[in-house]
Amino acid sequence: NTTKMQIAIDGPASAGKSTVAKLVAKEMNYIYCDTGAMYRVATWYALKNNVALDDNQALEEMLKDVQLEFVPAEPVQKVFVNGEEVTDAIRMPDVTNNVSLVAAQPSVRKAMTQRQREIADAGGIVMDGRDIGSVVLPNAQVKVFMEATVHERALRRYRENQAKGIETPLAVLEEEIAARDYKDSTRKEAPLICAEDAIKLDTTSLNIEQVVAEIKKIIKKNAK
Ligand code: CDP
Ligand code: CDP
Repeated sequence: NTTKMQIAIDGPASAGKSTVAKLVAKEMNYIYCDTGAMYRVATWYALKNNVALDDNQALEEMLKDVQLEFVPAEPVQKVFVNGEEVTDAIRMPDVTNNVSLVAAQPSVRKAMTQRQREIADAGGIVMDGRDIGSVVLPNAQVKVFMEATVHERALRRYRENQAKGIETPLAVLEEEIAARDYKDSTRKEAPLICAEDAIKLDTTSLNIEQVVAEIKKIIKKNAK
């Protein structure tokens, strides 16, 4: 099968979306697009330039100055804003704890959705986020909604933090993740939702290889 597909992977925070999406893209020789990184960049830039995080219009103006670039790299792709590398900066707690507010602003969603569709137009793509199957790429041939319990997701984040030397108690991570999921699911525009035609995948007791295998099965079934 030589047809290039669109593969949409959505789900709540730390469900394993980006890890798995990246591996699937690599295997298929597709482009990988981490849409969460785009909302993180908007948040990082707004914090840096003292733009109010809930000022829809000011954010719209601000984004006109944001030149965003992804560079494939291992273990994670590099992210640049106006030439400055922000790969690590956009994962810092002040960005993580404010990103849902910025991502709820309609002007931000509009700008990001437009850029994401442009990226997807380039060919085969694996895109992960919250509204890919429901809003950004509604005609995607494959839609997966990844889930896992809050406890398991917090545990994954905890281990990730430990590897970076960050010590946040598990209970705090559970609260942060639950709070972000709540904000993402209840916002007015493009909330986190399982698209009607998406396939739900509970990854609570699956490791990364097992999730990749499950997604490959889903792709095989849906490839036209
Ligand atoms: O990696 P993690 O699960 O922490 O989150 P992310 O995928 O980097 O996304 C960060 C935030 O961006 C989410 O909590 C959402 O508020 C927002 N987001 C969104 O609104 N729509 C998307 N398609 C992707 C992310
Ligand atoms: O992109 P998202 O926020 O959904 O999650 P991620 O950043 O891909 O994964 C969060 C953490 O969970 C990473 O450290 C992964 O290595 C880990 N993970 C895991 O332990 N088991 C899985 N089945 C999937 C991811």
